[in-house]
Amino acid sequence: MPSVFIKTYGCQMNERDSEAVAAQLVAKGYSLAPEEAGADVILLNTCSVRDAAEQKAINKMETLIGQTRKRNNRAVLGFMGCMAQSRGQELVDQLPDVDLVLGTQKFHRAGEHLDELLNGRRDSIVDTEAEAGSEGAIREHLALGNGEARAVTAFVSIMQGCNQHCTFCIVPSTRGRERCRSIEDIVTECRGLVEQGVKEITLLGQIVNSYGKREIGVKDGKSAFVQLIEAVHAIDGLERIRFTSPHPKGYGEDLVEAYTRLPKLVENAHLPVQSGSDRVLKAMHRGYTRERFSDLVGKLRAAAPEMGVGTDIIVGFPGETDEDFAATLELCREVEFDNAFLFKYSQRRDTPAASMPDQVGQEIIEARHAELLAAVDEIRGHKLRKYIGQQMEILVEGPSRRNAARLEGRTRCNKIVILEGGPRFIGQVMEVRITEASQTTLYGDPAIHNLN
Ligand code: 5AD
Repeated sequence: MPSVFIKTYGCQMNERDSEAVAAQLVAKGYSLAPEEAGADVILLNTCSVRDAAEQKAINKMETLIGQTRKRNNRAVLGFMGCMAQSRGQELVDQLPDVDLVLGTQKFHRAGEHLDELLNGRRDSIVDTEAEAGSEGAIREHLALGNGEARAVTAFVSIMQGCNQHCTFCIVPSTRGRERCRSIEDIVTECRGLVEQGVKEITLLGQIVNSYGKREIGVKDGKSAFVQLIEAVHAIDGLERIRFTSPHPKGYGEDLVEAYTRLPKLVENAHLPVQSGSDRVLKAMHRGYTRERFSDLVGKLRAAAPEMGVGTDIIVGFPGETDEDFAATLELCREVEFDNAFLFKYSQRRDTPAASMPDQVGQEIIEARHAELLAAVDEIRGHKLRKYIGQQMEILVEGPSRRNAARLEGRTRCNKIVILEGGPRFIGQVMEVRITEASQTTLYGDPAIHNLN
């Protein structure tokens, strides 16, 4: 049977989609190739949020074509995901060696298309049509066997698409309109994962707090998303629940309050703010003001004082002035984000912001990015150092990615903690004392050895 290698660009949704495709192919008998070289099928799961992400995947494909075609003329090369969806046939026109272009509603068709291509029945396939019910197709997980450590954490996709239409964003056109899975379907998947040893589940959607708004609606004062969290919370053996990403607009009191009464819901919120300037927020079509955002963070921290708050920020949105940028810097200092991902604004085709006047020059974008990066790094480092000497609960996820001789865990508020210890700790929730902090990571000593 053929071997497959999948390389993923972009967000956690993409990681999850790649896993589901890999699981689908493994179920058909494929093996997972450890590296690109020698694989019979190489798929790039792509990201479109910025032009740089698209160029990276295109450059990678050009390199792969050069390397692979010399060695194995029958290898299948494909793009899937967001750029596959937005560019479609154009990708094959530009790179005729590409065999497969698989859109965001077609991941579950990977196997059948690859059969056709590998058997030589078709030359190339571009499949980017909308498909009803595809939101329910991202459900298979890779079960690691053969002595490999079992996964302790898992992503579960609860919905697809986005109806928000922020003026900078291409996602509504790459992922389509919002469609959600049923609570029952999601709980069944989560239960299956817990039976396989998973301790922590992250619920994924473009805007998770829009989950089931139309299809399920409010019941007993609880939004559909809170109803879903409660249903997942009831699964015995599950230790932790996270979700990403919520939208600050429409982040209801019920979701704030959920942190106070659902102990498995860990104290962590990734709340993309995008800008600290009301003028820019309005032009972005975000639907909240800076004050409303700060209030929301205040409420979350009042509900759960240890709340780790992360965000996404775009620098250089069209029309962003020095003053607007200063407001973003000031907001970062005021809120003290635990983590912030910074994005240099990138014009995306067919988005309203791409044709707005006063596009900001690249040099200014670079300078603002560097200034903001230094500020958010400093804030993060300062906040991390405050944990030194404290005892914190971590879930041990596996060997450290940097140094396999050590272990890596995560606090409830989403900080990575490195510690010494053997494999029996993997999958355990344990207390550690924080001894050291770097710019991004904590180091801990097991405070109580849970030897069982
Ligand atoms: N340019 C730069 N960053 C963008 N993002 C989305 N669209 C763009 C764009 N056109 C960022 C936002 C979003 C994150 C996933 O990507 O900050 O939250």
